[in-house]
Amino acid sequence: MDVSGLVDTATGRQSRAIYSSEELYRQELERIFGRCWLFLVHTSQIPEAGDYFRTFMGEDDVIVIRQKDGTIKAFLNSCTHRGNRICRSDRGNAKAFTCNYHGWSFAPDGSLSAVPLEKEAYFGELDRSRLGLVPVAHVAEYKGLVFGCFDADPPSLEDYLGDAKFFLDVWLDAMPGGTSLVGETQKMVLASNWKLPVENVCGDGYHLGWAHAGAMRAVQSLDLAGLSVGNSSTDLDGGLSVAGLNGHMALTSLDGVSGYAFYPKPKPMLDYLEFNRPQVIERLGKVRGEQLWGSQINITIFPNLQFLPGLNWFRVYHPKGPGQIEQWTWAMVENDMPAEIQAAILDNQCLTFGLAGLFDNDDGDNLAACTEQSRGWRTAQMDVFTNMALNRSGPREGFPGDIAAGLVSEHNQRYFYRRWQEHMQADNWAGVPTYNINSVVAEETINA
Ligand code: FES
Ligand code: FE
Repeated sequence: MDVSGLVDTATGRQSRAIYSSEELYRQELERIFGRCWLFLVHTSQIPEAGDYFRTFMGEDDVIVIRQKDGTIKAFLNSCTHRGNRICRSDRGNAKAFTCNYHGWSFAPDGSLSAVPLEKEAYFGELDRSRLGLVPVAHVAEYKGLVFGCFDADPPSLEDYLGDAKFFLDVWLDAMPGGTSLVGETQKMVLASNWKLPVENVCGDGYHLGWAHAGAMRAVQSLDLAGLSVGNSSTDLDGGLSVAGLNGHMALTSLDGVSGYAFYPKPKPMLDYLEFNRPQVIERLGKVRGEQLWGSQINITIFPNLQFLPGLNWFRVYHPKGPGQIEQWTWAMVENDMPAEIQAAILDNQCLTFGLAGLFDNDDGDNLAACTEQSRGWRTAQMDVFTNMALNRSGPREGFPGDIAAGLVSEHNQRYFYRRWQEHMQADNWAGVPTYNINSVVAEETINA
């Protein structure tokens, strides 16, 4: 389906059909979820051989399994006999996966290891070597984050992440001990199109001071008067909306502490930041060590991974039709953090962005209603707008990307829909453009 008229990034307009059309949704499963690198699991969630974690790539159910040699493989969670799900639990450790229907058994490397009545019923004629689990075409890791890709010939994961690594490393590589995801998977079913929470978190600083006004008053502990978190400041130094990173985005304050503004008792975190900042500056340079580490940074990896250093939630959205998602959330910690801080982070993540989280409840109702109001015969013909601060972006020294000043902008959302449109129009990766804007400046900063 031609989507060229459905999104106009030059003027910031989207047709509401992109949130409700079943036909477009099937095209998204093929051209976005079937083509892009998708987050599968954090290495901390499957540390031992035989550890497995069940997740989704688009609507495809997959099992990610740590192998005996330490590598990680992923397979479709579907029996090659008649299609049944072979793994029903969310995570665990297994020596084999045995199908409930007729008892075929698969080893952790995906091979078909046992078939009941193989000799008697198949007369020894079954070619087991052709009936192993279907592997995900590519699995790769970037500093603890494991991604999978169905496409036969994608860019490498490193190239796919591109300049977004500048921001990813502020979390993944700030401290030598690395990171972990902690707690159980917090799953929420939301009656929202998958793109709406992504555009909300990737760039919508506009809603903070309105939709979350009550939640912020309830939990905010630091005086943010001088910072642009949650107010309407568009001052250049208050924060940045960073896009132009091949569909990835960052929305960041620049103060180095505001990530911990919504903790009832932020002092241990602020002490941790102060004590460790010199070594982070040494590892990542001044821009990231001083201005970004400890800041509130909304990071988006296209299409469906978002995480927020500072408030420390980490989230993936699994689409379930045009009008529904499963939103999976964990708390994220640096392994060098004292246990007391790690426990406080998990508590705070549940309080703010968890199943009963104050902020998530504010957002959930708005996103579900925006989805519902795009489904009617008449409303589906209407448009919505991301036209704030058009043509007011440019480079900024020390940062990659095309940058708009401040947190209140719709700059990032326009880039998100631009990437959506580029993928939806392209038949394969060769047709998807690459733009690493201001990459060289960032590279110099990384190496400084
Ligand atoms: Fe799995 Fe038959 S469907 S063994
Ligand atoms: Fe929100």
